[in-house]
Amino acid sequence: MKRMAFAATALVAATALALTGCSGERGNTGGGTGTEEETSGFDAGSTIGVALPDKTSENWVLAGDLFTKGLESAGYKADVQYAPSSNTVAEQQNQIQAMVQNGAKVIIIGANDGKQLSTQVQAAKDAGAYVIAYDRLIENTDAVDYYVAFDNFKVGQLQGQALLDGLAERAGHDAPYNIELFSGAATDANAPVFFDGAMEILQPKIDDGTLKVVSGQTAIAQTATEGWLAENAQNRMDTILTGSYGGDTVLDGVLSPNDTLARAIITSVQQAGKPVPVVTGQDSEVESVKSIMEGVQYSTINKDTTLLVQQAIKMVGQLQKGEKAEVNDEESYDNGNKIVPAYLLPPVIVTKDNAEEAYANVPSLLEIVKSYK
Ligand code: BGC
Repeated sequence: MKRMAFAATALVAATALALTGCSGERGNTGGGTGTEEETSGFDAGSTIGVALPDKTSENWVLAGDLFTKGLESAGYKADVQYAPSSNTVAEQQNQIQAMVQNGAKVIIIGANDGKQLSTQVQAAKDAGAYVIAYDRLIENTDAVDYYVAFDNFKVGQLQGQALLDGLAERAGHDAPYNIELFSGAATDANAPVFFDGAMEILQPKIDDGTLKVVSGQTAIAQTATEGWLAENAQNRMDTILTGSYGGDTVLDGVLSPNDTLARAIITSVQQAGKPVPVVTGQDSEVESVKSIMEGVQYSTINKDTTLLVQQAIKMVGQLQKGEKAEVNDEESYDNGNKIVPAYLLPPVIVTKDNAEEAYANVPSLLEIVKSYK
């Protein structure tokens, strides 16, 4: 499914490339290469750039700190930057350009808008730097060398399954169940992958009448949340409740793509004076873990940022030595120009029932969970 989503774009992009005669070959300046080429490594004390988006969820905040500490303790100079939420795309483009000019050997990018970085990553490639897309794919360019992320499709599948499980457990009645669907920002390549993963589980249940999307809004464009912003999800939920859940109509469940939006959706339903539905999430944000332990939000996903940052830094180490970075997926992430070799980590579903086990290796969250015992 993931592969098919990008197939049409890939064809258009390949044609465009052929027409412009752009070869996309990397400059031979001792830096990054594609997986098929020999690599030459770089100095151990080199600068590594990390360009992160705005802080739309706790995982981004955590990542910056972990990158600075992890890269420096591995002997590199770390140049970690965030793009502020006011003018994120332009700011991130400038930051990456500056990293290239400052001679960064690897640039790790958590894209704000993965479709708007092709000029900057091409400049990185031309300067001989490697580009690693971190958590979010960079699209429509062949200048991205690697992708490191949690398995986004699996995240969606886990969310879809959690919604079904939660409904069976908590709705208090048999099917059909009234649900609504939310997805993330259209600028984030992850958003459709999460949604497709969830819909692989939910669509058959919509088709057989187990689930009813009362608003009728099932197309991803209708469900998108601009900027991944809580206020946008809350406004959309308010509008749907007013338009489709008048009188005694109960909302049983909501597919929410992450925790920030889950809490906004719950707030909207509470303010409308309706019972809290089964709501999914992602990221294991502190407030959502508390909410889950209090029996309000139903589920989240544990994507341990420490592990993801460690994996990215491990890739940097392999490239520094002149090796190829290790990958475990060479088919899923077609960015429109190429299939980007990826290292995917396994996400873990978390509900009240398995929270203690799920956070066994995340001391700060484990402590919260235990405080509810
Ligand atoms: C990340 C999620 C996060 C969302 C909003 C996505 O690309 O994978 O973990 O919740 O962005 O920041």
